[in-house]
Amino acid sequence: MSIAVYPGSFDPITFGHLDVIGRAAGVFERLVVGVLVNPRKSPMFDLDERMATIREAVGEQLSGLAGRIEVTSFDGLTVDFAGTLGAAFIVRGLRAVSDFESEMQMAHTNRKLAPAVDTVFFMTSLEHAYLSSSLVKEIAAFEGDIGAMVPAAVARRLRR
Ligand code: PNS
Repeated sequence: MSIAVYPGSFDPITFGHLDVIGRAAGVFERLVVGVLVNPRKSPMFDLDERMATIREAVGEQLSGLAGRIEVTSFDGLTVDFAGTLGAAFIVRGLRAVSDFESEMQMAHTNRKLAPAVDTVFFMTSLEHAYLSSSLVKEIAAFEGDIGAMVPAAVARRLRR
């Protein structure tokens, strides 16, 4: 069985992330979305909310693929998370050239740490390429319309 992990902060999940999840789940038989517990960052949404919104969004938008998609949390190294699950692939999304440098560095570093685990990139669909969790939070903070940027489960929480 081909297993991949999709690690990230998902604070919060956007339609860009969801696009990558859907496309990766079409390629890999089991896709485990890993929400990072990062003690160095203080996220807007706590871990349970981030996992709950991803699950809700997958249920609402990707119900046909839901059987292949799991959502869990992890701390420590992504390669260790992948190793525990027997995953040979790490999935990441690339929106623009600006993402490339840091993503390339992470992919090379992860490969050095775990040569059996490869990183696979999906180019985020053009319609979502402008999206970022930070911008969504900023827009929501000024009561802007984030309805086209995040799944309903996130929009509800952000408005609240
Ligand atoms: O959504 P993000 O914040 O861009 O995701 C970054 C993430 C979670 C993929 C990265 O920070 C990560 O892998 N963190 C886990 C710790 C780790 O493995 N660090 C070494 C990466 S080369």
